[in-house]
Amino acid sequence: MNVSTKVDVAFQRCINPQCATTYGVDEVRIACGKCGSLLDVVYDWDRATPPKSLSDFEELWSRRYDPLALSGVWRFHSLMPFAQAEQIVTVGEGQTLLQHSLAVAKYVGLTSGDLHLQYEGLNPSGSFKDNGMTAAFTHARSIGAKRAACASTGNTSASLAMYASVTQLMKAIIFIGSGKISYGKLSQALDYGALTVQIAGDFDDAMQRVVQVTEKLGIYLVNSVNPFRLEGQKSVMFRVLEGLRWEVPDWIVVPGGNLGNSSAFGKAFMELKELGLIDRVPRLAVINASGANTLYELYEKRGLRWNEGSPQADIIDPYYAELDDQQKRASTIASAIEINRPVNLTKCLRALDFCNGVVREVTDQQILDAKAQVGAGGFGCEPASGASVAGAKLLREEGIIGADERVVCILTGHVLKDPDATVAYHAGDREKFDTVLGSRGVEKASFANHAVAVENDLDEIVRTIEQNS
Ligand code: F0G
Repeated sequence: MNVSTKVDVAFQRCINPQCATTYGVDEVRIACGKCGSLLDVVYDWDRATPPKSLSDFEELWSRRYDPLALSGVWRFHSLMPFAQAEQIVTVGEGQTLLQHSLAVAKYVGLTSGDLHLQYEGLNPSGSFKDNGMTAAFTHARSIGAKRAACASTGNTSASLAMYASVTQLMKAIIFIGSGKISYGKLSQALDYGALTVQIAGDFDDAMQRVVQVTEKLGIYLVNSVNPFRLEGQKSVMFRVLEGLRWEVPDWIVVPGGNLGNSSAFGKAFMELKELGLIDRVPRLAVINASGANTLYELYEKRGLRWNEGSPQADIIDPYYAELDDQQKRASTIASAIEINRPVNLTKCLRALDFCNGVVREVTDQQILDAKAQVGAGGFGCEPASGASVAGAKLLREEGIIGADERVVCILTGHVLKDPDATVAYHAGDREKFDTVLGSRGVEKASFANHAVAVENDLDEIVRTIEQNS
């Protein structure tokens, strides 16, 4: 499959249909210069070479020697033809699995048993972020960037730091909130050699600062306001379809933080539909943690909608003013999604509109119990990813998801990203539990698997094993 990547095939365009100002792909922007809205990367499909059928991609399965066919992102280059093949920076990201899980289906209440976990923790840096980072890095390289930065709850920074050190093309600069990042993620950024700037504040503060600093210093920004990053993240949906032999599931359930994933997934389906490569669209469920529930509050409680590109400012502005007045900060054990001011809000509204979406919030208790069930089913994940399974269970209980539907939950990050939360949940030690989890309103570990303490004595050890297995 040859990909047509002439520069004029791709361009950037303001997502507000009333504005729709366009920019070249060689421009570095995170917002429209005219109206301030977010930007999309869009394609002139008549001049590009999209596949005639999704099954055309199967031709690439046998070409593992070719890095662009091996990559689970760039295998789908013809659906994101903004880059020349020679510019592409890949580390073999996106070799992820769509895992059918009967155990989790049972927990969620799907009698169909038709529940699938898209296991993005298998990416090289351990989270879905690599799907987007390979695309942002490719763009950064093509425009000659020497430094790249992000604000992060941990996974974006781990991914950026990894691409910077693997390629030796750029210096990575990461902004994190103080005490807001799990050790698994922080250790990655430090080990990969990123300049790590710890701001006295949380992610929302770090995000505001990184935008200012990158503008001032001319540093390339890789947060998901970067439209090229979201192009790469579309590939998560392409692989879901691939795992289902190109059948569209009934539901995609994804945790919502900065809302990059949900936005990218919506765009993927919009384009597949436009190209006639799918005949129906799945419903999208975005799951917030209840301690960081801006999207839930705005969409479900206050009726905020995409509204043909003009979401109601008289709903958004007072909500953020309330957060400021009450000095309300995001707070959840799922630190990856501890975000109150999602930068991709408008794009996510568009995705919800196109995919007949719903938004739910789940408590830290629900998140950790769901996470433990994912682990018990053999596929560990970090707390934020547990939100998707907890959300699917809630929607099933409400009858919104039918018992016989086909559901795909996205597991966004690996279990080893946040061992503190996992160990505290399973520890028999109440003090440890209370310190890490009790303060978050988590009362019990419904599926705890305590370590069994035993004397260093052969008979004792044997007796203990016989009693417990
Ligand atoms: N799950 C995990 C494991 C994440 O790391 C994130 C985001 C999300 C879900 C939410 O995804 O932002 O696309 O809605 N982590 C970002 C970071 C914010 O900095 O690593 P989203």
